Amino acid sequence: MADHTTDPRVVVVTGGANGIGRAIARRFARGGARVSAWDVVPAPDLVAELEGLGASGALFQRVDVTRADEVAAATELVTTRWGRYDVLINNAGIVRDAQLVKWKDGEVASLMDDATFDAVVAVNFKGVFLCARAAVPHMIRGGGGAIVNASSVVGLYGNFGQTNYAATKSAVITMTRTWARELGKHNIRVNAVAPGFIATEMVAAMPQKILDGMVSHTPLARMGRPDEVAEAYYWLASDAASYVHGATLSVDGGLVTGT
Ligand code: NAI
Repeated sequence: MADHTTDPRVVVVTGGANGIGRAIARRFARGGARVSAWDVVPAPDLVAELEGLGASGALFQRVDVTRADEVAAATELVTTRWGRYDVLINNAGIVRDAQLVKWKDGEVASLMDDATFDAVVAVNFKGVFLCARAAVPHMIRGGGGAIVNASSVVGLYGNFGQTNYAATKSAVITMTRTWARELGKHNIRVNAVAPGFIATEMVAAMPQKILDGMVSHTPLARMGRPDEVAEAYYWLASDAASYVHGATLSVDGGLVTGT
């Protein structure tokens, strides 16, 4: 691995424009890294913000993680610009909730349709695969690296109305363990984070009644903040976690134990 005191790490954060991803990008910037945030929505002020926080370099790239061609081009640009690739944070994710079959008055009221299922699989599952596949050859050439993937508490215990989402977040845990087995010999550590309910746009769309129910099952009795989750990503990607590999770290205020 490079000496990060003289050669700051090169970090890619997917879904870096908003929410937890933006907090992760900020955390790495404060640590002096070279940070590229990838997203499908614009983030006009992000590069200046990251530079202001202490990033040794900052980039924003319009990348749809479901598109292999866009991921390849963005990876190429990062490695051409900075000469290496040390950390991939696979954070981009979406929700599209619907019951598998909603039954009302003796008949089918609605179904989870194919497009709803496929959209979530494409971002949360295939996107993680595409970004890791593009990153790993560069990490191997550079002598190692770290990948941290976004799972969720619901990937551990399922959730009403989230057939698609919960399944992808479980799949992320399985991919994390598989890559830990495959990539350890290349000095690439792979871990996952399973956030509980964190105050971002994704959760703001949920009805207040559901949010209150979540908080009532959370032993810390509050929602989490994006910066609290960002610390877990930062630590897992750091040398301080040098023997943590294949793990899924819950950052959920105790929600899993409270359920
Ligand atoms: P968010 O909706 O605030 O931010 C997600 C970002 O990903 C957005 O900027 C969005 O534009 C981007 N994105 C969506 N599709 C993309 C694509 N195809 N390519 C590139 N970027 C794309 O979400 P939040 O809450 O910050 O969540 C971040 C991650 O953490 C997600 O993977 C989510 O599933 C996971 N998570 C969030 C929890 C929460 O309570 N907020 C709980 C558990 C997991």
